[in-house]
Amino acid sequence: MNKTLSKPENVEQPDAAAGCSAPPCSVFAGVELRKGDSIEVLQTIPASHVDAVVTDPPYMIGAISTGDSSSKAGSWVDLMNASFWYREWMGECWRTIKPGGFMVIFSNWRSVPMLLKACADKKIPSTSLAVWDKDWIGPAGPSQLRPTYEMILFCAKDGAKIDNRSRSDVFRHKWMACHAGQSGHPAQKPVPLLKELVELVTKPEGLVLDPFTGSGTTGIAALQAGRRFLGIEADDQWHALALERLQSAADPMHAMQRQNDQALP
Ligand SMILES: C[S@@+](CC[C@H](N)C(=O)[O-])C[C@H]1O[C@@H](n2cnc3c(N)ncnc32)[C@H](O)[C@@H]1O
Repeated sequence: MNKTLSKPENVEQPDAAAGCSAPPCSVFAGVELRKGDSIEVLQTIPASHVDAVVTDPPYMIGAISTGDSSSKAGSWVDLMNASFWYREWMGECWRTIKPGGFMVIFSNWRSVPMLLKACADKKIPSTSLAVWDKDWIGPAGPSQLRPTYEMILFCAKDGAKIDNRSRSDVFRHKWMACHAGQSGHPAQKPVPLLKELVELVTKPEGLVLDPFTGSGTTGIAALQAGRRFLGIEADDQWHALALERLQSAADPMHAMQRQNDQALP
């Protein structure tokens, strides 16, 4: 793994996946971050290129709460579209994973049926549905129980192995809303949770792909675990935030410089 610290550049690098020649694409110190639509960028990544996909996609919460019954499909129309979309990006992710690799996807009770349907449609074998105990009680409507957990689906290619044979399927890490250091992204996950996941499903120097990078948590965890990272994010604001956080994670000098700049009057 190239540990040399350098400024991000919008140029193609020798180990960059095909398609990284066009900006905006930043490559530095084991990180490649692309701005764009996940499916479009995934289609440029060669088959069997990454060791694992670890990702936290949009849960499509609005998909069943819009109540739009103006079409023939009624209020299910949004969910049907979402299901189709899940199937497409999951199929693309699966294609990019090497034999023996894992795909690890966050979900909640609303999105988990879409995940399982996509697995069935694309013949992707799911091997565990783990629980993330958020050590925090969230808000809920009058007819709901207050939520404390999310789910994490594991899918495995032939030959995949989890070396830690004592690891159970419940992960307990405090939800970011309770932490100092919240980046501003509303769905930011805890770095220690992502680090644990990355370490479970890859070996040192392995390449981890996250097609829904958000604020860059999976990438930071990958760097902390001595892995490499390939990220995709569509939103301008979150892409800029992820770039900033990943640069700071890759280069402590960058983080210090930024703190100094912010402290200046
Ligand atoms: C649940 S958030 C990920 C949060 C991340 N795990 C973190 O800790 O910050 C999902 C991200 O996917 C991005 N996204 C949504 N649709 C996308 C698409 N079609 N292509 C790429 N990124 C997309 C959103 O902008 C959002 O930042």
